[in-house]
Amino acid sequence: IAAEGEASDRFGFDEIAHGVDTTHHVAAGHDADILIRWGDPLFAGAPAFNPHNQSADAQEQQFGYNNDYVGFVPLEGRFDHGLLVVNHEYTNEELMFPGLPGPQDEHDFTGITREMVEIEKAAHGLSVVEVKREGGKWHYVRDSRYNRRITPRSTAMTLSGPVAGHQRVRTSADAEGRRVIGTLNNCAGGTTPWGTILTCEENFHGYFLGDAEFHPEKDKLARYGVPGMSYAWGRFDSRFDIGQEPNEPNRFGWVVEIDPLDPTSTPIKRTALGRFKHEGAASVLTEDGRLAVYMGDDQRFDYVYKFVSRDVVDRADPAANRELLDHGTLYVARFDEDGTVTWLPLVHGEGPLTAENGFASQADVLIDTRLAADALGATPMDRPEDIEANPETGEVYVMLTNNDKRTGEQVDAVNPRGDNVFGHVLEIVTEGRHTATQNRWEVLVKCGDPARGEVGAMWNPATSENGWFASPDNCAVDARGRLWVTTDQGGNWPKSGTADGVWAMETQGERRGTGKMFFRVPVGAEMCGPCFTPDDTTLFVAVQHPAADGAEDFDGHQGRSSFETPATRWPDFEDGMPPRPSVVAITRQGGGVIG
Ligand code: FEO
Ligand code: CA
Ligand code: CA
Ligand code: CA
Repeated sequence: IAAEGEASDRFGFDEIAHGVDTTHHVAAGHDADILIRWGDPLFAGAPAFNPHNQSADAQEQQFGYNNDYVGFVPLEGRFDHGLLVVNHEYTNEELMFPGLPGPQDEHDFTGITREMVEIEKAAHGLSVVEVKREGGKWHYVRDSRYNRRITPRSTAMTLSGPVAGHQRVRTSADAEGRRVIGTLNNCAGGTTPWGTILTCEENFHGYFLGDAEFHPEKDKLARYGVPGMSYAWGRFDSRFDIGQEPNEPNRFGWVVEIDPLDPTSTPIKRTALGRFKHEGAASVLTEDGRLAVYMGDDQRFDYVYKFVSRDVVDRADPAANRELLDHGTLYVARFDEDGTVTWLPLVHGEGPLTAENGFASQADVLIDTRLAADALGATPMDRPEDIEANPETGEVYVMLTNNDKRTGEQVDAVNPRGDNVFGHVLEIVTEGRHTATQNRWEVLVKCGDPARGEVGAMWNPATSENGWFASPDNCAVDARGRLWVTTDQGGNWPKSGTADGVWAMETQGERRGTGKMFFRVPVGAEMCGPCFTPDDTTLFVAVQHPAADGAEDFDGHQGRSSFETPATRWPDFEDGMPPRPSVVAITRQGGGVIG
């Protein structure tokens, strides 16, 4: 950690330039190699990828679509050999399937068949895959006994914590309310100190169809945007039709704990961590040895949360932490103008969270986390995405990606811009007190181009014309305590003039608030999953949905990208081969620490 006032650059690399083209770019002196792609076979007998003749059974044995969170779990304590745990957040039908009648409009399911829906389900969820570095290069191990696909098509999961067994999570397939098939829209995540992975269910509302008008919980559904009707699944599978299975939406929107070292283990939905559009789940040990988990609810005007476990973490015996995430207190953040953040407990019977106000038990408080947080007066934020804690300094970084619906009257100190197209990064200053019910907060940077006055950006003046970024989404803190930020501008990248990527970010000393561009994705992609090996010699990044976002604004490309006419065919660049979401391994040429 640089001392206060120290002006030295903590990142030694020469930054790359803003821009947009069909491929990826990394800072000089580094290699960025494709490690695994959508469709790559994960088992010895798995079929080779054939996008012109895909089946759900093939897809279920292959790496899924739209890789987002990446976690690395070392094997035998090694940093050149381990398991990658990768979220597959969602699917882009128009880029996955040949012959659809043009790019799909939202809620237009023309041409979507039952088999396509099954392929989509099989392309969702997670992959666990063994990876190894040999001769300096990473590769994945196709026939590893650890390799696993987890999907909303066929993986049974347990509901645990206060909501397990509750009447509001019982369905015709699960009369006990304890067993759910699958996980949906897994966005970011986290790794626990005992080596399990937390994977986060984000935009689960989009998978549900039906008419909410006659639903018994119509108003509660509305607070979560259910039914979102983004996918045709409910046409072929009754559990995604809220008219047929009214409680099914209550079984999604959770944080799921997965033990990647045991491929037969049952993933567990940890309901004590609340139900919302979970972006990520950043674990940090508290000052008294318990666990704090910081979490964002990614929607305009939604909230920042933390969970503090009741029990201390047993660092010697991973199995002893099996129920740690079932007991504790969930808090939501209120950010006051004076720089104080107050953590408000979501506990049944306290304050307004009573039966008279519609919360009959802690299960109701958790199923309806957003409504409970509304009642407590939490601060509506500009789309809280990934959060990371810096274990050395106690700083907690919160990515607030954007909010183009915030009006001038809705501006406050912690969300300081109306029509916030470019987002900002918030810092919570805990001084290591992660159990505290009050900390301080500061805005670290306001994103966007500082050279354009109307943007209202705020960066350290040492930031170059390539060092600023827009729409921070994911982030990682490396073992040296350095912050790295990745972006997701969606279709807004023409407003910044650069594709998404990875930026290094100074948080200490005179260079605090300086960005520096390290990696850039191909056109229409977003940058997910930054994950360092524990020795900082490899950075894994996930290139999500290449060609998909805003590609009609690229180089004369006509219309939205489709399977037949994508804006890029990254990373294969072969005729007839669609673009493929892929994980990239970044290493330093000749070895050594990234950046
Ligand atoms: Fe899936 Fe909030 O990004
Ligand atoms: Ca995200
Ligand atoms: Ca992260
Ligand atoms: Ca995203």
